[in-house]
Amino acid sequence: MSVRKTLCWCGSGFGYALCHGPFDRPGPGADQLLAAHPFSWAVRPAPAAPRRKAPAGVRAPDYATGGEPRLDLVGDVRSVAEIEAVRHACGEAAAVLRHLVGMVRPGITTDALDAEAYEECQRRRAYPSTLNYHGYTKSICTSVNEVICHGIPDSRPLRSGDIVNLDVSVFVGGAHGDCSVTVCVGEVNPIARRLVDAARACLNAGVKAVRPGRPFSDIGRAIEDVAVRGGYSVVRQFVGHGIGPLFHTGLQVLHHYDPSQTRLMQPGMVFTVEPMINAGTHRAYQWPDGWTAVTADLARSAQFEHTVLCTRSGVEVLTL
Ligand code: MF3
Ligand code: CO
Repeated sequence: MSVRKTLCWCGSGFGYALCHGPFDRPGPGADQLLAAHPFSWAVRPAPAAPRRKAPAGVRAPDYATGGEPRLDLVGDVRSVAEIEAVRHACGEAAAVLRHLVGMVRPGITTDALDAEAYEECQRRRAYPSTLNYHGYTKSICTSVNEVICHGIPDSRPLRSGDIVNLDVSVFVGGAHGDCSVTVCVGEVNPIARRLVDAARACLNAGVKAVRPGRPFSDIGRAIEDVAVRGGYSVVRQFVGHGIGPLFHTGLQVLHHYDPSQTRLMQPGMVFTVEPMINAGTHRAYQWPDGWTAVTADLARSAQFEHTVLCTRSGVEVLTL
């Protein structure tokens, strides 16, 4: 009998028998196995550069000094002037993101990408929205492999075979824009590449479901359909959000189907669609740093994000 190495479904690029295989055999529970199993490839925290000062000569949002955004209730329908501002901010966020994607290669650290994001924002007179947001220390989020979201840039060099989500948000002209992509670093195994493709397809399906007069639950339904057909799960713990003069308004956009999301989309609403798609469980575990969210089974996760405007006829993607 030939011993064929089957790639593990989790996307690590390692063989199933030595990776998640032990979880499927009778024995100790998954929690104990995770604690005992040598997932040599798992992402670990690494030392990180300290928080930068708010960029000089750039208008900063209110939380830039104190770390806490003021509790401010804004409606969910943006004025014409607000839409103009958010459209510009989204264009700038997308431009910074494109710039960073061009720098991704094996060996570069996520801290180096963060430093470049800070500089590129400053050149554009934009404030990196995440900097000091609820005390967050960096200008972008970088989420590698099993990190679902809110990964903090640090000194870990990216390796060939990694997938990394770069999440860029900027504040300029009084408005925020927010977008992200997952990038393959060097040679990535086909199982992880398929996950990345599925996450992109999920975002596209979610964006296409944006339509005035339809309930917000349409978005989650469209996303979950695509995810489930690919054999993936949809993260529930983190959701899309209204955005504009505030980074996160009260409006929540679920990426899984929840029939109780009966609120109707209206022209002038601006929000993010940012599905996180997992190879295994949808459940998340948070690192002690209070930010980094990883999948509870250490299987890979991929995410793409746009900020969109609901128009009278459908949708405008603002972060192209
Ligand atoms: N772009 C991310 C989001 O909207 C930023 C999260 S806030 C951070 O979910 F502080 F973690 F960066
Ligand atoms: Co967002």
